[in-house]
Amino acid sequence: MGRRVSQAQGGITPDSIGRGYSATATNYDAAVRYNIEGAERLVAAMPDIPYSRVLDVGCGTGVGSLAMAERFPSVRQITALDPSEGMLEEFRAKLAGAPGVEVALQHAGVDTMDVPDGAFDAAIMTMSFHWFPRKSEATQRIARALAPGGIFAAVLPGKGVDEEFRSLLAQVEPPHMEFLGSFQAAPRSLRQMEGYLEGAGLDVRDMWIERRLRRSTVDAYLERMRVVAGHLGHGMDPADLDAHLTALRARMEQAAGPRGFEYEFCKLYAIARRPG
Ligand SMILES: C[S@@+](CC[C@H](N)C(=O)[O-])C[C@H]1O[C@@H](n2cnc3c(N)ncnc32)[C@H](O)[C@@H]1O
Repeated sequence: MGRRVSQAQGGITPDSIGRGYSATATNYDAAVRYNIEGAERLVAAMPDIPYSRVLDVGCGTGVGSLAMAERFPSVRQITALDPSEGMLEEFRAKLAGAPGVEVALQHAGVDTMDVPDGAFDAAIMTMSFHWFPRKSEATQRIARALAPGGIFAAVLPGKGVDEEFRSLLAQVEPPHMEFLGSFQAAPRSLRQMEGYLEGAGLDVRDMWIERRLRRSTVDAYLERMRVVAGHLGHGMDPADLDAHLTALRARMEQAAGPRGFEYEFCKLYAIARRPG
């Protein structure tokens, strides 16, 4: 007899991801302070160039764009896109406080973004790449949007991310295939990312993986998961989802030590330049 699996109906699409992020957009910043700090570290590592026109792909609540506006007073115009209307609303509110910056928002995924070629001095992509359905095409589209000499700066989950959590997730019966599958498929190695960037005609200037030991309460960890990956359970039978989360929580509590649930988080950073 086959193994019973819990699976959402209809698959994962930019629309379903967008709806999922909209449901939790107001909780996002509080649950993912590490994403905020990661975006800030990425922007701090970008070459010191007077960027004026910035593209933010999978912009979320605007943590990357805000870091750009704060570090580079030269920024005049930000075009930001996301398939989640709720995230775009948060973005608008956050960037309202950036003086002299004109914001243009697009409710779109990277596949359908409508931006001119060669128009941007910088493109940023902070913790969104792992959700893109076609990664090579997405990287090529972003590269085309850059002006010659423009900089592409990205941060994404790197190989080794959340391994402790993933191994617990894999033990829960029946397995939650969307959750497990997307966890297994999300992380990228330096070489894979280099391949996407070079395949898009970009010159890699710097790439690195940051591996951090983190400790969290089980509640805070699961809240982060709800906020960044809640859409993965949206098509599931609510009772199945509830049972799955209860079993997962029990395993995490068992694994947690006196200092909480310990895990290693890997972020991959990449900075590349469009030749010219
Ligand atoms: C973890 S959040 C990151 C948000 C923000 N960039 C940050 O650094 O906090 C992932 C974002 O990617 C967006 N996203 C998902 N699929 C996408 C796609 N195909 N194209 C563009 N953005 C996408 C989600 O809606 C969500 O806002």
